[in-house]
Amino acid sequence: MTVDDLARRIADDVAGDGGLAGLRRLSGVIATLEDRRTVLVEELRRGRHATWEEIGRACGMTRQGATRRWSGKLRARSFGAAASAYQQGRPGYPQALIGSVVSREARRVLDLGAGTGKLTRLLVDAGLDVVAVEPDEAMRDQLAAAVPKAAVRAGSAERIPLADGSVDAVVVAQAWHWFDQGAAVPEIARVLAPGGTLALVWNVRDESEPWAAALGALMHRSTRQVIDTQPVVPAPFGAPERLEIRWQHVTTRAEIVDMVASRSYVIALPEAERARLLADVEELLATHPDLAGRDEIAMPYITRCTRVSR
Ligand SMILES: C[S@@+](CC[C@H](N)C(=O)[O-])C[C@H]1O[C@@H](n2cnc3c(N)ncnc32)[C@H](O)[C@@H]1O
Repeated sequence: MTVDDLARRIADDVAGDGGLAGLRRLSGVIATLEDRRTVLVEELRRGRHATWEEIGRACGMTRQGATRRWSGKLRARSFGAAASAYQQGRPGYPQALIGSVVSREARRVLDLGAGTGKLTRLLVDAGLDVVAVEPDEAMRDQLAAAVPKAAVRAGSAERIPLADGSVDAVVVAQAWHWFDQGAAVPEIARVLAPGGTLALVWNVRDESEPWAAALGALMHRSTRQVIDTQPVVPAPFGAPERLEIRWQHVTTRAEIVDMVASRSYVIALPEAERARLLADVEELLATHPDLAGRDEIAMPYITRCTRVSR
C-alpha cells in the first residue's frame, strides 16, 4: 500500500460519518501528527542531521516555508536544554502578585507553560489546588522536584490535557508570547469554568540602574526579543485589568550568568558566541563600579500582569 492509500484509509476511518464529530476527530488526529512532525524536525535540527533545505524538501515546502513554520516553535521548545540554569538563575515572582493573578474565590488553578515551577510554587503556597502543564520534559522534571505538591502534566497551550470547565483560573508566566494564540485562546476558554480568569505575567528587568542597563545592552548585542507585555486578549475574554509591581530579586553573580544562559536567544547562539557572551557578562559583573565587592546583588524588576475574565 502506498503512503497516499494509507493516509486516505486512516482519514476515512477517523472522519467516519463526517459532520462536526468527524471534523473534531480528524482535527485531533491532524494536530497529533503535526506535533509528531515538529518533534522529528526538532531532533533533526538539534543533532544537525539535516539542513532546513532538506527538511523543507521532505515536507514538500521551500526552505523559507520550513523555517517560517518551525524555527519559532523550536525556540519555544528550547528551554529544556538550559533547565537547570533556568531554575538557578531566573527570578521568582513577588508574593504580592498572587492576589492579582487569581480571584479570591478561585480554588483550582492551571499554571500553563509552567517551566520549572517559579510561579507554581507561590500558587501552591497560597493553598490553591494547582495543576502545572508544561511541554518540555526537562523543565517538568525540575518542576516536579521543586514543587512536589503540584500536579504536573505534559501538554501545551494549544492542547491542554484537562476537561472542559475544570479550572477557575489560568495563569501564564513568561510564556504567552510562545503560544499559537489562535489555538491557545479557545483551549484556555474551554478549560475555564464560566466567569474564570486568565492572567498573563512577565518579569521585566528595570534598566533604570546603570549596571542593569549595561547588562541589558550586552545581552541584546546580537539579537533583541521584543515582547508585548501588555497584550490584548481576544474574545471570549473581556476588558483587561493591568497591574505593575516593582520589586528586587536578591541574587548572585553566578545566578545572573545562569539567568542570561537560560534566555532562549542565548540558548540558540552558536557555541563560541554563547561562551563569549557569558564570559563578557561575568566580566561586567566583576568590574562594574556599582557592583564592586558585593556578594549579593539586588536586581530591580517590574512584574507586569494582565488579567481578563471569560
Ligand atoms: C520563559 S519559560 C516560563 C516558565 C515559567 N512559567 C516561569 O515563569 O518561570 C517559557 C515556558 O513556556 C513553555 N512553552 C513553550 N511553548 C509552549 C506552548 N505552546 N504551550 C505551553 N508551554 C509552552 C516552555 O517550555 C517554557 O517552559
